[in-house]
Amino acid sequence: MQGVHISNHPLVKHKLTILRDKSTNSTQFRQLVRELAILLCYEATQDMALEPKSVETPMGQAEGAELKERIGLVPILRAGLGMVNGVWEMMPSSEVWHIGLYRDEETLRPVEYYNKLPVDPTVQVCLILDPMLATGGSAVATVDILKEWGARRIKFVGLIAAPEGVRALHDAHPDVPIHIATIDERLNDIGFIVPGLGDAGDRQFGTG
Ligand code: PRP
Repeated sequence: MQGVHISNHPLVKHKLTILRDKSTNSTQFRQLVRELAILLCYEATQDMALEPKSVETPMGQAEGAELKERIGLVPILRAGLGMVNGVWEMMPSSEVWHIGLYRDEETLRPVEYYNKLPVDPTVQVCLILDPMLATGGSAVATVDILKEWGARRIKFVGLIAAPEGVRALHDAHPDVPIHIATIDERLNDIGFIVPGLGDAGDRQFGTG
């Protein structure tokens, strides 16, 4: 499917396997989410625009480059929070804009509860961060919010997706590239990804 990028990096596969393991504790889980987010965002930012910049080294002048576009990191609360800090350290000039959504347990539809975006967009590129793409409802709603805000370029960066979620996001927003570590088999009848990793929010925050 065009615009769907599944990482082929050995480090991603290695870390994802430990992340899935039910014996991995919250401390390890948070560390792995952080590391996987960095690796996936490294891949997702391959096409960021640059502008020339020259600097003085101790030995002379070097022609280099700097990021041209302002990047917004958009974690979907709660589970997306764990994907922020590592990526932010890698791109410290990024802005972070939180979107609060939870899934209604009955309908599995996303319910918005937090959005403090200012009136006008302040970034040129948005990276939506959420470990899980299940039905795709949360990701589609977040792209809707960002497009309404005026964001021009949006990418989704996640860890594990269900085929249903990839299809839903791609169909609703074919212009939004999807960067993930893997596509799993299916969703179960309560909307969890199988085999997945369980509840990414609970496993990060010790609330399961
Ligand atoms: C999970 C996950 C995604 C969403 C994915 O969040 O982190 O945001 O579900 O499901 P979807 O693709 O079907 O919308 P959840 O609603 O459990 O909230 P939490 O992160 O606060 O626990």
